Amino acid sequence: MTEFSKSKALMQRGIDFLGCETAILCGAMSWVSERNLVSAISNAGGFGVIACGAMTPDLLDAEITATKTLTDKPFGVNLITMHPNLFELIEVCNKHGVTHIVLAGGIPPKGSVEAIKAFGAKVIVFAPTLALAKKLLRSGGDALVIEGMEAGGHIGPVSTSVLAQEFLPELAEDHVVFVAGGIGRGEAIASYLEMGACGVQLGTRFACASESIAHPNFKKAFFRAKARDAEASVQVDPRLPVIPVRALKNKGTEEFTAKQLEVAQLLNREEVDMGEAQLQIEHYWAGALRRAVIDGDVENGSLMAGQSVGMVKAEEPAAAIITELMQQCEAALSGR
Ligand SMILES: Cc1cc2nc3c(=O)[nH]c(=O)nc-3n(C[C@H](O)[C@H](O)[C@H](O)COP(=O)(O)O)c2cc1C
Repeated sequence: MTEFSKSKALMQRGIDFLGCETAILCGAMSWVSERNLVSAISNAGGFGVIACGAMTPDLLDAEITATKTLTDKPFGVNLITMHPNLFELIEVCNKHGVTHIVLAGGIPPKGSVEAIKAFGAKVIVFAPTLALAKKLLRSGGDALVIEGMEAGGHIGPVSTSVLAQEFLPELAEDHVVFVAGGIGRGEAIASYLEMGACGVQLGTRFACASESIAHPNFKKAFFRAKARDAEASVQVDPRLPVIPVRALKNKGTEEFTAKQLEVAQLLNREEVDMGEAQLQIEHYWAGALRRAVIDGDVENGSLMAGQSVGMVKAEEPAAAIITELMQQCEAALSGR
């Protein structure tokens, strides 16, 4: 019997779609998902995804080149739809023959899905509602990630377990659907696979892998934290629709509340429009995450983390994490 045969049988469509050994994606994490972690995940049989975040086209070009020197396995690139140079970033991916592009952060702008498909890459989309998921899959999306509010980073309002019950019975038979948010162990993977998902995406569980370049202070904060410490940010002004972010509570969380009030006042004085206000908020997050991940400022930076953070206990190689998840998944399925 091949290793993990029951798990892999349920993951088969995801494995074929991604071109790797196990349908476990490491979701893109800005500043964390760079060449080292991405190549480690893909070399371990998972699917690594570069987080482009606010990178310029030149930086993304360099990151893809470097990643390719570290792995010959497939990996993807995550692009934020509101990036001002989105189409140039797509062109960079084309130049490198990137096979999978994840479009995150909102509805893909007109022409972006077509531009990706024109060079044969597959498009992976996120959708917070079933109606939008169907629309995106109809208009060119090749696969869908459903991500619940247990996840780290920017989140929607609904939990993974409810999204899975809403989306999978309707979509899983005809579409490639990956489930994300709050997954810390393989038993949970087994359940989502049985419900029809053909793979899963994890972020928090991989953020502290040995190969992750996250600062030791960032990793220590994760090891100490419990599920309840990963809190969703609060919106302070009803006019300013800030997408909530789940992160470990610290001084940075309070500063974010202050930042929202500052931007709301700029709106009051009509010194910025709504688009600019939201962009300022997003830039704030990118800067705060960098302070925590790269500089190790775990007081003032943003410690984006999902509720599964309580299951992150120590630094382990990406390969060990993937093997453990697959063992737990296989044991659960074998015991049914
Ligand atoms: C530190 C951190 C940064 C993240 N940055 C991004 C990002 O830049 N783009 C994105 O699409 N998702 C981002 N995410 C979400 C992950 O890609 C992934 O979907 C999520 O972590 C899965 O849920 P989990 O944290 O419960 O495993 C981030 C998550 C974390 C923990």
